[in-house]
Amino acid sequence: MELKKQINDKFLSFFGKTGAVYASSGRINLIGEHTDYNGGFVFPGAIDKVIMAEILPNGTDQVNVFSIDINEEAHFGLNEDDAPSQSWACYIFGVCREILKRGGIVKGFDAVFAGNVPLGAGLSSSAALESCFAFAMNDLFNDNGIDKFELARIGQSTEHNYCGVNCGIMDQFASVMGQKGKLMRLDCRSMEFEYFPFESEDYELVLVDSRVKHELADSPYNKRRQSCERVAKRLGLETLRDATLEMLGNILPDITAEDYFRAKFVIEEKERVLAVCEALNAGDFETVGRKMYETHEGLSKDYAVSCEELDFLNDIAKECGVTGSRIMGGGFGGCTINLVRKELTDAFVQTAKDRFNEKYGHEPKEYPVVISDGARKLE
Ligand code: GLA
Repeated sequence: MELKKQINDKFLSFFGKTGAVYASSGRINLIGEHTDYNGGFVFPGAIDKVIMAEILPNGTDQVNVFSIDINEEAHFGLNEDDAPSQSWACYIFGVCREILKRGGIVKGFDAVFAGNVPLGAGLSSSAALESCFAFAMNDLFNDNGIDKFELARIGQSTEHNYCGVNCGIMDQFASVMGQKGKLMRLDCRSMEFEYFPFESEDYELVLVDSRVKHELADSPYNKRRQSCERVAKRLGLETLRDATLEMLGNILPDITAEDYFRAKFVIEEKERVLAVCEALNAGDFETVGRKMYETHEGLSKDYAVSCEELDFLNDIAKECGVTGSRIMGGGFGGCTINLVRKELTDAFVQTAKDRFNEKYGHEPKEYPVVISDGARKLE
C-alpha cells in the first residue's frame, strides 16, 4: 500500500481524526565523508526515500505516537525527565526538547509515522525522522519561524544529546534542504552552500546495500571524531579544515599512528571534494569516479570504517569497470555508492549480487538513486 495511505488509515483508526502530513528524506553523499565535523566540505543530496508522519496537536502536554514499521506506540511528556524508553521515540522527544530549549514552541500532539528509508544502510533514516518532526513542529507550533538551517541543527543536537551519536551536520542538512535533481556542496565551517544539478545522459548513481547493519551509536564513530579533535588541538587549530599534510608530518612524533592516519584521510578528503566539484562542472565524470575510489581506499585503510563486505563490493565494482565506487556515510556497513555508465548498470548489479551471494550467502540490495526534495508538508 502507498505509504501515505497506510499512515492516513492508521491515524484515523487510532485517533479518529485526520492531521497534517509531513515527510523528510534520506540522503546520499557523492563525496566528502567524515569531513563535516572537521569543518570541511560535503556533497550530499536528498533521495526519494522518506520518513512520513501524520500529526495533529491534541490540546494536552502529552505526545502520543505510533510507529507503523516497529508496530509500537510511545507516550511521553515534553519535560526533560519525560524521555521515552523506546530508542526510536527518543529521536522525536529529542527534537521537541531541542526546539523548546531554543525558546521555540512545542505542545502535545498525536502522530503516526512510517518510512521507506532502509534502516542501518547509511542513508540516514534517523536524520529523515528528525527532520520530518522538526519541520512539522515548526509548521504546527512556530508559524515556520525557525529557519531551515536551525531545523537541521535541531536534528543534529538531538543525535548528540538524546541518541549518543556525536555526528556532523551533513545528514540533517541534506534531509532538510534537499532539492529535486540537485546535489549540494556544503562548507561545514561557514555553512555556505551551493546547489549542483546532477544530470548526465551517460552516467547514473546506484546504491548497493551490503545489508551489513550499521549502528553509529555502538560504532567507533565517536572515536574517529575524537582522533580528529586531538590532532587539530595538537596543531593549534579549531578543526582539521586548515590542516595540511605537511603540518601533519611535522607533529608525527607527538601523535599516535592511528591519529595520524585518521587526520591524513580527512585532509586528503577535503581536497577531493573540491576536485570533484571542479570535475563535475567540466562534465568530467571519469575524474569524479577516480576520486570516489580514492575515498574508498582512504576510508578503508586510513580511516578504518569499512568492512570486508564493503571492500568486496568495491573490488567487484572495479572489476566490472564501474567508473567510481565507495563506501557511503558513516561506515561500518551499509551501502556503496557507485557512479556507473548506464549501459553497464545491469551487468554490474547482477555480478555484484551473484558474487556477493556466493561469498556471503545473501544478495545485496540495489537502489537506483533519485535525487529528490527534502523536508516538506504534503498536500
Ligand atoms: C554519519 C554522520 C554524518 C557524517 C557521516 C560521515 O552519516 O551522521 O554527520 O559524519 O557519517 O561522513
